[in-house]
Amino acid sequence: MMSLVAYAPASIGNVSVGFDVLGAALAPIDGTLVGDRVYIAATEGEFTLASSGRFAHKLPDDYRENIIYDCYLSYAKALKKRGLTIKSLLMELEKNLPIGSGLGSSAASIVAGLEALNAFHNNVLDDNEMVLLMGELEGQLSGSVHYDNVAPCARGGLQLMLEANGVVSQSIPCFDEWYWVVAYPGTSISTAAAREILPTEYSRADCLTYGRNLAGFIHACYSKQQDLAAAMLKDVIAEPYRAQLIPKFDEVRDYAKELGALATGISGSGPTVFNVMTDLAQAEKLQTWLEANFIQNGDGFCHICKLDKQGARIVGTTL
Ligand code: HSE
Repeated sequence: MMSLVAYAPASIGNVSVGFDVLGAALAPIDGTLVGDRVYIAATEGEFTLASSGRFAHKLPDDYRENIIYDCYLSYAKALKKRGLTIKSLLMELEKNLPIGSGLGSSAASIVAGLEALNAFHNNVLDDNEMVLLMGELEGQLSGSVHYDNVAPCARGGLQLMLEANGVVSQSIPCFDEWYWVVAYPGTSISTAAAREILPTEYSRADCLTYGRNLAGFIHACYSKQQDLAAAMLKDVIAEPYRAQLIPKFDEVRDYAKELGALATGISGSGPTVFNVMTDLAQAEKLQTWLEANFIQNGDGFCHICKLDKQGARIVGTTL
């Protein structure tokens, strides 16, 4: 194939109960693709990297500072280790996700970039090698390796990070009837800064609550107990410290609860918030309210989503 386009969805890191170890990929129910796309094509010339899309103006001017360029270099290195050479190619990043939104924006670029490169080279790297490479690149950007965005973005659905026996993550069953109402206010928070404000140590009580909530949530997902799962969606690790960075976070939670939301939380390191709902009419009501009261500027948006079970994929040959 002479050209192809890879798509990688937005994701919710942490999902409240699993700091750095749980993540979910998102698919808006109206069919919009909320994620980044990367176009790759054969060329006889030098490597070039262009950018387009709603948030392209937030990317560095020099393409060598673009994460897709790092994907290209890392992928070339991985091929070289196997005695292979990267093809002559050009790339374009369609940057649709806002940077510093808590929606796994850097992960979506990395995943789409590497998926495009791997598909272009007949999938030389296997799925596990790919996720490891994605995590490594994400770590370069955020200062620490955590897979809770790249794994769901690449593999889809709800992913639990395991990092044992060579397994990075595995899929956890979730509730098909859940709507995830996700609102990005239009401002940005750097993941590194949002990690900086967290305590370096936690009390025994918090450790016990964290373990109970995470184990309880996973148990409830497997035993199909929706209300129990929702009751476990509580964050004692990040939300108590990060909520102050998100204006109106408490108001969102209160209003969502009035409308019957099962849970409200911070997506990744914020400022995006998510709300779990089961009634579509109420979810739409919350969406209207969030658009009027939570979104602060023209960059913001709100989507009613289900989980994206597919994760990253090849979606065509042209942008
Ligand atoms: N789990 C990480 C954090 C990344 O909350 O800092 C979120 O995208």
